[in-house]
Order: sequence, then C-alpha cells, then structure tokens
Amino acid sequence: MDWSKHKIFETNSIILLVGILIVVSIGGIVEIAPLFWLSSTIEKVQGMRPYSPLELTGRNIYVREGCYLCHSQMIRSLRDEVERYGHYSLAAESMYDRPFQWGSKRTGPDLARVGGKYSDEWHTLHLKNPRTVVPESVMPGYSFLAERRVDATYIADDLTALQAIGDPYTDEMVAQAGADLKAQVDPDSDGAEALLERYPKAQVRQFDGNPEFISEMDALIAYLQMLGTLVDFTTFDASGPNLR
Ligand code: HEC
Repeated sequence: MDWSKHKIFETNSIILLVGILIVVSIGGIVEIAPLFWLSSTIEKVQGMRPYSPLELTGRNIYVREGCYLCHSQMIRSLRDEVERYGHYSLAAESMYDRPFQWGSKRTGPDLARVGGKYSDEWHTLHLKNPRTVVPESVMPGYSFLAERRVDATYIADDLTALQAIGDPYTDEMVAQAGADLKAQVDPDSDGAEALLERYPKAQVRQFDGNPEFISEMDALIAYLQMLGTLVDFTTFDASGPNLR
C-alpha cells in the first residue's frame, strides 16, 4: 500500500486539524442525530407535572442558596441507597428540572424523596438552625428565609420561559401564576381548588407557620415537601403499565 499521501496530513497541521474535525464529527453525528428522531428519550411516567408557582419559587431558592452543593437528588439503583432513601430515581422525575439537581456530593443526605418525611414545623426549625433538631448537624442555618418576602413579580415570566423551552405550562397557568402562588399558602381561598386542578397533588397550607406574608421559607418548604411525591410507587411497575 502506498502511504505517501499520509505525509500531507503529517506535515501540515491545518490539514491534520480539518481531518480530525471531519472524523470526530462523523462519530458525533452517529451518536447524537438519532436522538432527534426518537419521539422521546425520557419515558413519561404517570403523575409527573411541572412545578406549581410556589414550588418553582422554592426550587429557585434551593438553587440560589446552593443546597445542591451538599445534597444530591438522585437515588441510584444500588441496594443500600434504595433501602435508605426509597425507590431509585426515574429519569422522568427530573424532566422538569432545568437545570437538573442530581448533584455530585452528599455532605448531607439525598433529598430526592424527602417530601413527607418530616413535618413543616421540623423543616422550619431545621432550616432556621439545623442543630435545634439534629445536634450533630454541620448544615448552615438559613433563618433569614423566614423574614424575606417572596417576590412574585416575575413568576409569570418564569413560567413563560419554561413554556418556551417545552415545559407543558398552559397559557392559563401562566396567566394565573401569581394567584396560584398565593393560593398555595391559603387553604380557605377559592383559588386553592383551581390550583389543585392545574397542579394535582400540590400541597396547600401555611408552610412556615407565619400567615402574615408569603416567605421564602414557605416556598422552600413547599418545594421540599413535594420532592419525590408525584409518582405513586405503591403501584409503579418499571416493566411498563405505568408508563404512558
Ligand atoms: C454544608 C453542607 C450543607 C448545605 C449547604 C445544606 N445542607 Fe442540608 N444537610 C446537611 C447535612 C450534613 C445534613 C444532615 C444533618 C441534618 O439533618 O441537619 C443535612 C440535612 C438536610 C435535610 C434533612 C434530610 C433528611 O432526610 O434527614 C434537609 C431537608 C436539608 N438538609 C435541606 C437543605 C436545604 C434546603 C439546603 C439549602 C437551603 C441545605 N440543606 C443546605 C448539609 C448541608
């Protein structure tokens, strides 16, 4: 075989670079292109819905405060994890997380299924000063969250942005975002019913025990209390029937 033409590549770095780019992009196309023709890369699972406005506000606070630096939200399919935290995480459970909160470090425990594990009072005390309820805790306190009002000015814009990148928020959900946010901490209001219709399983109550205003504490606890509660794992069967 005549290898002399190979010299063109080996003696000219620009031509070599172009050659590398062509070869690498073939590999890239083979790997990535099929994803555009699959109808879905994430199996849909019954029960998953986008975040309610209050939960979304709480999630934004979770990201802002960097909770993900110490907490993961991804239970691996390993026996010790499943026994400690519950059913392993499904891809669909993170489908409305932008960005996802899987995390890479567990200074504290995984939070993917923390919803319903503790009372709201426990969370309020714990977030204000973790050592009140867990004496050996090294988690920092976030007592200021109880004093800060939730700024609801931009919540509709938040939903609009998520809608634009494919989250199934309807125009009605966007229009009602501010009202839904308030309704979630006010169980007696007329809005609570409409909220539940739009966001099934949303938990409606006073989360931080202070009815005077909607605090960031309310929003963060609403978020924590819904984590891992949307999919019903008493009936979930990974082999198919629950997937739709
Ligand atoms: C410096 C690391 C660190 C940061 C940052 C941190 N945590 Fe923690 N977290 C811990 C540790 C350690 C524990 C276990 C001890 C305890 O319960 O306090 C914990 C426990 C928890 C628990 C109880 C989990 C369980 O299953 O018992 C919750 C809920 C929680 N953290 C929420 C948060 C939230 C929300 C934030 C952000 C506002 C946050 N954490 C930030 C370290 C951290």
